[in-house]
Amino acid sequence: MSRLIERGPLRPFRGTITGADPFEVVEDGAILIDDHVVVDFGPARRLIAAHPDVMVVPTDALLSPGLVDVHCHFPQTRITGTYGGGLLEWLENVTFPEEERFEDPAYSKAVAREFFDQCEAVGTNEVTVFCTSHPNSVDALFTEALDRTIKVTAGLVMMDRNAPSPLLTPAQDAYDDSLALIERWHGAAGGRFTYAITPRFAPTSTPALLEAAGALWAAHPTCAMQTHLSESEEEVAWVRRLFPHAKDYLAVYEKFGLVGPGAIFAHAIHLTDREVASLAEHKAVVAHCPTANRFLQSGTCDVSRLLAAGVTVKLGTDIGAGTTFDVMEVAAVAEGVPRRPLD
Ligand code: GUN
Ligand code: ZN
Repeated sequence: MSRLIERGPLRPFRGTITGADPFEVVEDGAILIDDHVVVDFGPARRLIAAHPDVMVVPTDALLSPGLVDVHCHFPQTRITGTYGGGLLEWLENVTFPEEERFEDPAYSKAVAREFFDQCEAVGTNEVTVFCTSHPNSVDALFTEALDRTIKVTAGLVMMDRNAPSPLLTPAQDAYDDSLALIERWHGAAGGRFTYAITPRFAPTSTPALLEAAGALWAAHPTCAMQTHLSESEEEVAWVRRLFPHAKDYLAVYEKFGLVGPGAIFAHAIHLTDREVASLAEHKAVVAHCPTANRFLQSGTCDVSRLLAAGVTVKLGTDIGAGTTFDVMEVAAVAEGVPRRPLD
């Protein structure tokens, strides 16, 4: 049975969360599902009259669009919210040791399953994900997603310095491994999968690695590109030392062709006016991750400043520096208001 009508309270979503009446609820609403795809929605009476031959299934659940998480790390599922100091200390003491475990394909497979279970439990149906630097982690994630309906953008982490040696890959190998994964997964599952070229961030990249990532993106422009930008002040100072000729952090990525439409920069907290203007001009996206910024005490992202400059800002859980898979919870922190009434 590929077509059915689900009937229940409907929250259609029109426009943006700051637009007019974003939380309209149609008490007796319905959605028409055709082969797992919602093809119509509205008042139940209209849908039932228009499709009298389709079975109607009543539900108490709120019928709502799925949530989108534009930045997270599936290999950090099991360390979500595990304390380890500020960003750089946390990476070294908590994150990298956990990511080393993904050398084992069985471990990757088990965590990929847990990751999607958590996404589904909170209503996320679109995610953009960092894997680890092990190709098997990318295969495990996409393979697990084949059996689900979630839309996935993901890629192999590229790193060639300043991380434990088991996680490092020389630039040429990172290029070749990423290319093989693009050929296997980009556009797969009927277009539900997108490959994201994924240099982790400037401090774990030599110029050669960033050059390889840029060349790969130029050769495969329909892929996404994801990385981190200006999350902590300590990180920004480190980038200044590592790339002394760059005028600022974003300029490092610009030099290698990594700033453009389809690029997602996580955090983007400590930016100069030039960097903000460049993000807008290049139509890049900022993944705002307020729960992670709070957890690592990285600073406060001035989202109003980004929006005023014309930068597109989306929300990310940043699991596992972020403390929740729930994008509504992330939105609540972004708004600075509690979502649930206090008892
Ligand atoms: N910067 C580089 N890698 C990471 C990561 O795994 N998490 C966060 N929050 N920031 C990063
Ligand atoms: Zn991240």
